[in-house]
Amino acid sequence: MPGFVVWFTGLSGAGKSTLSALLANELRARGVHVEVLDGDEVRTHLSKGLGFSKEDRDINIRRIGFVAKLLARAGACAVTAAISPYKDVRNEQRAQIPHFIEVFCQCPVDALASRDPKGLYKRALAGEIAHFTGITDPYEPPDNPEVTLYTDRETQAESLTKIIAALEQRNLIPVR
Ligand code: ADX
Repeated sequence: MPGFVVWFTGLSGAGKSTLSALLANELRARGVHVEVLDGDEVRTHLSKGLGFSKEDRDINIRRIGFVAKLLARAGACAVTAAISPYKDVRNEQRAQIPHFIEVFCQCPVDALASRDPKGLYKRALAGEIAHFTGITDPYEPPDNPEVTLYTDRETQAESLTKIIAALEQRNLIPVR
């Protein structure tokens, strides 16, 4: 079976990190070699020092895409979990990665702002964080993602099942 990339996109707090970890566990249990490239974590290593301007976000996303492509080329599954707010740069990654599964974590800003475990929305709404995605910075949803998750209305198990089904349908993982 070929390597592939599962590319999560969505606002901060929409469930990308949680679902990417759940997905990685499930894939490992099925014998798939998998690595997760999580936005917050990548920004402490590979993208240390980058900020949140469009230019810096684009650099971050291209780095993540580059590593994900190498992992997939070696036959593994790379799961990426960064906001990746800009459609053009996401599509650039899609164009250079043979098996690219885009997973859109859709969740209304209101729901995220009322949950707000990191307190970031509160601070962004108070004007304390400039260029905060979904508040004072753009998020461009994908037009045609392979999977859309409604993370304010679905259980984590339901969301995970949708991703697994999409991978099975495309013969990227063995059917159970
Ligand atoms: S991306 O836009 O370059 O894809 P990435 O996923 O790496 O973003 O990082 C997003 C995380 O950084 C958020 O989950 C949040 O914890 C933190 N963060 C800090 N400042 C901002 C900001 N201005 N906009 C969005 N996220 C921010």
